[in-house]
Amino acid sequence: MTQAGEATGGTNSRIVAAYRQRTPRSGALAAEAATLFPSGITHDARHLDPYGIYIARAAGPHKWDVDGNRIIDYFGGHGALILGHCHPKVTEAVAAALAEGSQFGANHPREIAWARAIQRLVPSAERVRFTASGTEATLLAVRLARAFTGRDTLLRFKGHFHGWHDHMAHGYANHFDGTPTPGVLAGVAEKSILVPPGDLDAVAAALRDNRDIGAIILEPTGSSFGQVPLEGEFLHGLRRLTEQAGALLIFDEVVTGFRVSRGGAQAAFGIRPDLSTFAKILAGGLPGAAVVGRKDILDLLDFEATAAAGREKVGHQGTFNANPVSAAAGIACLTELAETDANDIAAARAEALRAGLNEMLAQEALPWAAYGTSSVFHLFTNPARRTDIHPDRFDPHMCSLEELKGADKHLVGRMRLALLINGVDSNPRLGGFTSATHTDTDVADTVAAYRAAIAMLRAENELPA
Ligand SMILES: Cc1ncc(COP(=O)(O)O)c(C=O)c1O
Repeated sequence: MTQAGEATGGTNSRIVAAYRQRTPRSGALAAEAATLFPSGITHDARHLDPYGIYIARAAGPHKWDVDGNRIIDYFGGHGALILGHCHPKVTEAVAAALAEGSQFGANHPREIAWARAIQRLVPSAERVRFTASGTEATLLAVRLARAFTGRDTLLRFKGHFHGWHDHMAHGYANHFDGTPTPGVLAGVAEKSILVPPGDLDAVAAALRDNRDIGAIILEPTGSSFGQVPLEGEFLHGLRRLTEQAGALLIFDEVVTGFRVSRGGAQAAFGIRPDLSTFAKILAGGLPGAAVVGRKDILDLLDFEATAAAGREKVGHQGTFNANPVSAAAGIACLTELAETDANDIAAARAEALRAGLNEMLAQEALPWAAYGTSSVFHLFTNPARRTDIHPDRFDPHMCSLEELKGADKHLVGRMRLALLINGVDSNPRLGGFTSATHTDTDVADTVAAYRAAIAMLRAENELPA
């Protein structure tokens, strides 16, 4: 058994040794955390061998670890920080709200302003219901869809992530055969069926053969915010097919919301889903989320409307729904996005970063590629070692889902350490999010860090020379 703070198979690795040398305080905290938390961590995505860094503070595009190292951040608060860390308008709004109280157990004016800020950017949001997390939002959306249609089955796409609750657990990273993951009831998993992403014929066949499908949910730009990208044509096809079948279309915009465009993926593609889920940017970097959409569907939460219709109301509670401090952050963030070009700036930085990385990869003659849209970048690390990959003209559509998602875990882990040694925090797949605070200098430094990390991997024979 290995513990956090103890490298597996890394005893001879110069990368691991350099990482440990640069991060002794993080190492010590990781050793203590291993005595408290499973694997020493509090989110599966924070698992890193030998251990992850511990952050002391953050500002704009940077964060500083407890050893004083400055890191250019592309984890971006799991996608929540399109305005960067500690945006002054968000922090001021939060401080003002906090001074007035953090939990009223009652209605408050900020929840109205927050819903209005959403409606300003998302026209499909006829009604809004706040939850505390994206996971809760997709759970509520599915409950509403089942209650509204009277059909139990949910259609999902292989590899798409919608949070960690039981209806979404299999088919994201494993259990693609529909079997339940540990702790989930077989009867629950059975009612959540999987189809290959991008395959409209498979969706049409599923809807034809299974009249119990009440809703389709998806990450609208493709799984892991476009790592396996989807085309607008496919989305329009889904809209058509769901309408014909009387099923609901749910856009999970927890990541894409307010990022792919100010109005999310639905605005970018010109599609009006029946329900959408938002989180992350929605709450300006604090906990908070929402289900939004058609009034007649959200009316199932309405005491008077359900009584008048002779229907049983859908229940929904939650201590931190529409928390006033999260509301203040959300209002400030959404207002900033609505009234400035922050969204475009973040997207321009990602575009420059993708281009810079691809130029560097071509110079290094490494058949990997950076790709993505808006303020997102992904790194394709060519697990099948294809010889037809050229960074300057890479098209992810030429690769299978297995290739796009199937990076070599050991290699990616080592590359992340090498990036951190060179002052960059990527996401666990070596990609990430840009914010409106990343500068051209950050982009240039990041490209240099990726180049240096690749050199470290080559020196350790982890990559072809
Ligand atoms: C597309 C998508 N849906 C839902 C969730 C779950 O959100 P939360 O982590 O707030 O529960 C996530 C989280 O990353 C996500 O990426």
